[in-house]
Amino acid sequence: MPHGSVIPAIILIFSLFILQLCIASVASAGGGGNGINVWPKPRIMSWTTQPRANLLSPSFAISSPKHFYLSSAANRYLKLIKTEHHQPLVTPSLINITTSSSSALHTLFITVESLLTPLQHGVNETYTLSIPADASIANLTAHTVWGAMRGLETFSQLVWGKPNLLVASGLYVWDSPLFAHRGLMVDTSRNYYGVDDILRTIKTMSFNKMNVFHWHITDSHSFPLVLPSEPDLAAKGSYGHDMQYSPNDVKKIVEFGLTHGVRVLPEIDSPGHTGSWAEAYPEIVTCANKFWWPAESNWTNRLASEPGTGHLNPLNPKTYKILKNVINDIVNLFPEAFYHAGADEIIPGCWKADSTIQSFLSNGGTLSQLLEKFVGSTLPYIVFFNRTVVYWEDVLLDDNVNVRPSFLPKEHTILQTWNNGANNTKRIVDAGYRAIVSSSEFYYLDCGHGDFLGNDSQYDQLQPSSSANNGGSWCGPFKTWQTIYDYDITYGLSEEEAKMVLGGEVALWSEQADPKVLDVRLWPRTSAMAETLWSGNRDEETGIKRYAQATDRLNEWRYRMVSRGVGAEPIQPLWCLRNPGMCNTAH
Ligand SMILES: *[C@@H]1O[C@H](CO)[C@@H](O)[C@H](O)[C@H]1NC(C)=O
Ligand SMILES: *[C@@H]1O[C@H](CO)[C@@H](O)[C@H](O)[C@H]1NC(C)=O
Ligand SMILES: *[C@@H]1O[C@H](CO)[C@@H](O)[C@H](O)[C@H]1NC(C)=O
Ligand SMILES: *[C@@H]1O[C@H](CO)[C@@H](O)[C@H](O)[C@H]1NC(C)=O
Ligand SMILES: *[C@@H]1O[C@H](CO)[C@@H](O)[C@H](O)[C@H]1NC(C)=O
Ligand SMILES: *[C@@H]1O[C@H](CO)[C@@H](O)[C@H](O)[C@H]1NC(C)=O
Ligand SMILES: *[C@@H]1O[C@H](CO)[C@@H](O)[C@H](O)[C@H]1NC(C)=O
Repeated sequence: MPHGSVIPAIILIFSLFILQLCIASVASAGGGGNGINVWPKPRIMSWTTQPRANLLSPSFAISSPKHFYLSSAANRYLKLIKTEHHQPLVTPSLINITTSSSSALHTLFITVESLLTPLQHGVNETYTLSIPADASIANLTAHTVWGAMRGLETFSQLVWGKPNLLVASGLYVWDSPLFAHRGLMVDTSRNYYGVDDILRTIKTMSFNKMNVFHWHITDSHSFPLVLPSEPDLAAKGSYGHDMQYSPNDVKKIVEFGLTHGVRVLPEIDSPGHTGSWAEAYPEIVTCANKFWWPAESNWTNRLASEPGTGHLNPLNPKTYKILKNVINDIVNLFPEAFYHAGADEIIPGCWKADSTIQSFLSNGGTLSQLLEKFVGSTLPYIVFFNRTVVYWEDVLLDDNVNVRPSFLPKEHTILQTWNNGANNTKRIVDAGYRAIVSSSEFYYLDCGHGDFLGNDSQYDQLQPSSSANNGGSWCGPFKTWQTIYDYDITYGLSEEEAKMVLGGEVALWSEQADPKVLDVRLWPRTSAMAETLWSGNRDEETGIKRYAQATDRLNEWRYRMVSRGVGAEPIQPLWCLRNPGMCNTAH
């Protein structure tokens, strides 16, 4: 042992460290101090006695009010709780672990005040959970079934052990999210994901108390959604018969979302990003199937910002005939009150490639007027179905092609930001719109895997280059879990302005992702956003960012997600978990 003489000092320092953690843990639980770990961290979690654990009775049961979705969730959690047998990587340092059956917990009793409240934006997700130190019944109380589901998740994370199950006891939790909209966007057009991949993703979202699956279903590359009124769009525009979503698949996904407290928010991107529509209806799509950026033209004259060209033609009446059928089908398939209509990245060169548009422009028309015609003909139709329309920020903020605010009624429109970090969030809320934050500088999960273009000379470098530093992709570098965790989506906003921010979404665009890498790209980085939007990224008492203790907790949570069947990537060597604090930097 070459460094034998150093060891006693390390042990001394380490025992002091442990002692400190034990003292700190008496007041508030779940801070990473005693190994009791709930992710995302609850707003308030405190011990009513000294930190302790009791046996979870082998006949443990959950008593739930009868409700189609909550009863199903309760059964699911009961099964998870009884079979998971999580073994914490750091043994919880509790004052009292009682394995006597006299103090075993027999029942989790759920009370819900309002069983009829549907799952919708802003629904009350508050819950309280009391686990007694010396009685056999724990209480979970919530205003809605959706809040009760959040509480079930918390309870499941307070149980561990093998062969006996232990449950943290003498514990009180009050919990409620800071932001109502905690979402994940997945693009199923550029590469296809099976229904099971989507279900697994929704399930993992519910583990992380997230509540919106933003499904970017269609784009220029493929149209995988089979629509009853417009079956040709998928028949001809999908990647193939085995790469489609049938109405039954959608129903399954929406219902699965409901049993997990996750809304499924569909996006049909248009008028840009619609090349795949041309397989069925070439007459309504401009510049379809062209080489995206011809050698002889400069960037301003490109037809698309990436390979895969095509925009719907706002001047062709048939465009609206098809689109109205699509909207009809979407509102029938998705009960969700938000309808994402896209409207990002109108590329002038694509519209200018069309002869009817050329005459419109040469008669004094503008590209922005074309977009106004499109929005003015579709938004009212979507609103007619009592939907709130979500658009990407471009529709208002794009430098070249945008619409006047009068086309975007504020009570019916939400804008999702993705450029210029906090600056555009401020522009959106200052213009009077509610915002969903997906800033690509912080929340894009696909960045940093290189660019996907072939024949790309930027990689032919024998000297280090800047593109190597940013990972070669437009939004590089890779967004680490810390980048995501530390971002404040209301940065630079006044209290009034901040109220207009509904929440955030991390986004996985799928140029370089498919089912094989889905879990690794999403988890645990998406968990980082989930905690920040649920309970914040700061210590409640000091207001200081809590990324140091979050590291240990996220590590533990990652292992727990893996044992629940999620292919989440590691964030540190195992050694760091076994030696808490030792892998930190103190500089
Ligand atoms: C542990 O809990 C049991 C049962 O409540 C109690 O009898 C015992 O005194 C406790 N031990 C400590 C060290 O607090
Ligand atoms: C649970 O609720 C019951 C009935 O309201 C109450 O008697 C009991 O004390 C509660 N237990 C805890 C641990 O809060
Ligand atoms: C949510 O429900 C709880 C009771 O469970 C209540 O105290 C709270 O005021 C409700 N929150 C809102 C925003 O209505
Ligand atoms: C690129 O094309 C635009 C529009 O035709 C033109 O204004 C601009 O000067 C061109 N830029 C270069 C570098 O050729
Ligand atoms: C319209 O949507 C709102 C909010 O989702 C809902 O409260 C209301 O009942 C709906 N109205 C109709 C007529 O469906
Ligand atoms: C945001 O605005 C500030 C102040 O105008 C500017 O310095 C900064 O570069 C902008 N950031 C981005 C990402 O555009
Ligand atoms: C590769 O790019 C060069 C310009 O850098 C171009 O001249 C050539 O035609 C391209 N080759 C292919 C196969 O696309």
